[in-house]
Amino acid sequence: MKKLTPLILSFLILSCGKGYNPAVVSARKEASDIGIEIMKKGGNAFDAMVAVHLALAVTYPIAGNIGGGGFVVYHTSNGESGSLDFREKAPGKASKDMYLNENGDVIENMSTLGGAAVGVPGSISGIFEIHSKLGSLPIQDLFQPSIDLAKNGFVVTKKQEDALKDKLQDFINVNGEESLFSKNFKQGDTLKNLKLSITLDKIAKNGPKAFYEGEVAKMIIDEVQESGGIMTEDDLKNYNSVWRDPVKFTYKDLEVISMSLPSSGGILLGQMLNAIEEYDIGQFDHNSVESIQLMVEAERRAYADRSFYMGDPDFAKLPVYELMDDNYVTERMESFSWDKATPSSDVSHGEIKVIEESDQTTHYSIIDAYGNSVSVTTTLNTNYGSKVFVEEGGFFLNNEMDDFSSKPGHPNSFGLIGSAANSIEANKRMLSSMTPTIVLKNKKPSLIVGTPGGSTIITSVFQIILNVYEFGMSMQEAVNAPRVHHQWVPDVVIIEEGGIDHVKDSILRSKNYYVISLPIKSDSPGMSARSSIGKVDAIFIDDDGDVSTGADPRGDDHASILK
Ligand code: GLY
Repeated sequence: MKKLTPLILSFLILSCGKGYNPAVVSARKEASDIGIEIMKKGGNAFDAMVAVHLALAVTYPIAGNIGGGGFVVYHTSNGESGSLDFREKAPGKASKDMYLNENGDVIENMSTLGGAAVGVPGSISGIFEIHSKLGSLPIQDLFQPSIDLAKNGFVVTKKQEDALKDKLQDFINVNGEESLFSKNFKQGDTLKNLKLSITLDKIAKNGPKAFYEGEVAKMIIDEVQESGGIMTEDDLKNYNSVWRDPVKFTYKDLEVISMSLPSSGGILLGQMLNAIEEYDIGQFDHNSVESIQLMVEAERRAYADRSFYMGDPDFAKLPVYELMDDNYVTERMESFSWDKATPSSDVSHGEIKVIEESDQTTHYSIIDAYGNSVSVTTTLNTNYGSKVFVEEGGFFLNNEMDDFSSKPGHPNSFGLIGSAANSIEANKRMLSSMTPTIVLKNKKPSLIVGTPGGSTIITSVFQIILNVYEFGMSMQEAVNAPRVHHQWVPDVVIIEEGGIDHVKDSILRSKNYYVISLPIKSDSPGMSARSSIGKVDAIFIDDDGDVSTGADPRGDDHASILK
């Protein structure tokens, strides 16, 4: 990858039609601004990615992380695309029934809270892999802004105050009264994390080994084992991220590049877009009864396949393109009727011919002046992950083990159920819904998109694509528009506040759609309390190469763009 000197950068931006305005959209202003600063200094989108990832680990501890994992999907200015899987892995001592009691019942909270919930983290491996293959600036330059930010602190927002308060008792229960996050932070406080600053400095100087081996590794293992976990130093030492082929498919004149297994996101996105393509959804209004019916019926069938077929491709031969095949998807939609909802109880996974071969997460989108495009979704799983805080290292650890199927048919935190393909095995990666996506038009980047939201990630990305290309919305309008979600089970259509009026609500109900309008206040089986669907950060590039952004107002998200 070429390094962009400031002179070349200005030339690219100013010379009409030759360059793009670099942009970063992420969950925090500090992170977006740091990404832009890196590109101003001549870094490319991959350098910016490393710096943004670390800045989110400091300023957005609810999901930004070095103790979690995620996926990168990218498209370079040379027209190459690829993806990196830095998803967490199950510890070597993990086993299928590890969350079940002697009666075979799932032990409450064991896969979500405390050391037993922690998967082997991938983020540090991921950012070093990206940097060594595609970055251009020295790694120290990319760490330094976050080393400083952790030391000098960042200002707590109202949304952060509320989120921290919500988990305060869990922090105290897991980490004790004296832990950094066991304090009552208020809006306007400056949150300094000196230990994290020191950890980042060590990693910047000594590379990924400074996280996966030695002092920091020992801190992680001590915390995990003290709170009931089974992870060992060998698990950390043996962690590796994996370059994988992204899924690629077309929707009308667009080429879509998204994450493949062990994320279900790209495959489901392909299935859903393929399922609705022949119905020409753009002829209907946004969130009309017809467009909601089409989306929901496509979603229902795709999520039924998710629960049966998907898991870690390193552990079994699993179908990918078979599930997006035109004939297969058309057949799946044959039972769709405009008159009545197809009950989920009548929908199971489809029959495919397997070819031999085969609110909790965070997303950021980046484009540089050359058009290198990076789409990254990363997570600790649920808010602040397992709540296990590595005190001496200054960071939270994930609870990604909950994304495995603890028991067939038993819903995880997102109400998702799974089968053998996603059962727990030593060193296996748990199935994800993360959907970092890049859409190309005429071979050029057109949309860089992704979101947190557990099971609602895939349906949110699906709707952003439709909002932009079918309903003619600007990038920001597409992000703001109220969203709809269905995931096969539970058989409910969840709609954000203001998403539909009473008339449409009644029509949908008369067709046997069970509509739930957000907010859902308290947890109920298979359904978490939630007030919104997804929190999308996206970049749109029009046919003239003009860049526009959409930072989700559902959070503190921020778009920074270099004009
Ligand atoms: N932890 C959420 C996901 O990977 O889908």
